[in-house]
Amino acid sequence: IGGGPLAGRHVVVTSGPTHEPIDPVRYIANRSSGAQGTALAQALVELGAEVTFVTGPAAAPLPDHVRLVQVETAREMADAVQAALPADVAIFAAAVADWHVEGARNQKIKKTPDGAMPALEFAENPDILATVSKLSDGRPSLVIGFAAETEKVVEHATAKRARKGCDWILANDVSDATGIMGGSDNAVTLISDAGAEAWPRMSKKDVARRLAQKIVDAFADETRP
Ligand code: C5P
Repeated sequence: IGGGPLAGRHVVVTSGPTHEPIDPVRYIANRSSGAQGTALAQALVELGAEVTFVTGPAAAPLPDHVRLVQVETAREMADAVQAALPADVAIFAAAVADWHVEGARNQKIKKTPDGAMPALEFAENPDILATVSKLSDGRPSLVIGFAAETEKVVEHATAKRARKGCDWILANDVSDATGIMGGSDNAVTLISDAGAEAWPRMSKKDVARRLAQKIVDAFADETRP
């Protein structure tokens, strides 16, 4: 079994939103559907890769033929990614919450008779992409992040690539008018050492296939004599 240009390569893909609990019945989430992550996993599997798919509670269907790890919070996602390493490639398509609620309650928060509002305090979540990018030991040879931006997309994403220390960033414009978040199309710019390469608007599946092919090419360049 298992042919294809990515046979023998292990790829970790994060996907979906995270849910950060407030109490047992409430949480903080975001609008990520997980569609781009699922498409990526599928495209990589089709090229023969062994994929560990670490996903938050996503609305999109789950990919087939992956090692599936379902998590809820950013902290669980960080632990799951850590446990999934080593990998040749790590792709961070998840929309990870930046903060979790500090001291999430064990019991449902109740309204009080005096009408006082509950106050939430936040604490920072681990930055999974930055952590993996900066590993001195066992860093995947290719670390890829996404950057959802609403303005100055290339500028912000280029700065983000440097800050996070990843190899490639796929920047996408998620300003309201584009309908990308939760939609089936994506318009991305690939930012690497070689500069910024704008891809035409295409389906998330095609973005996934094109990125998977770029990964194949990167390994081919690396092993070419
Ligand atoms: O920092 P920001 O969320 O804009 O960066 C986006 C990229 O970083 C995405 O690839 C996302 O999956 C990753 N990320 C992460 N862990 C976080 C925040 C973002 O892996 N806590």
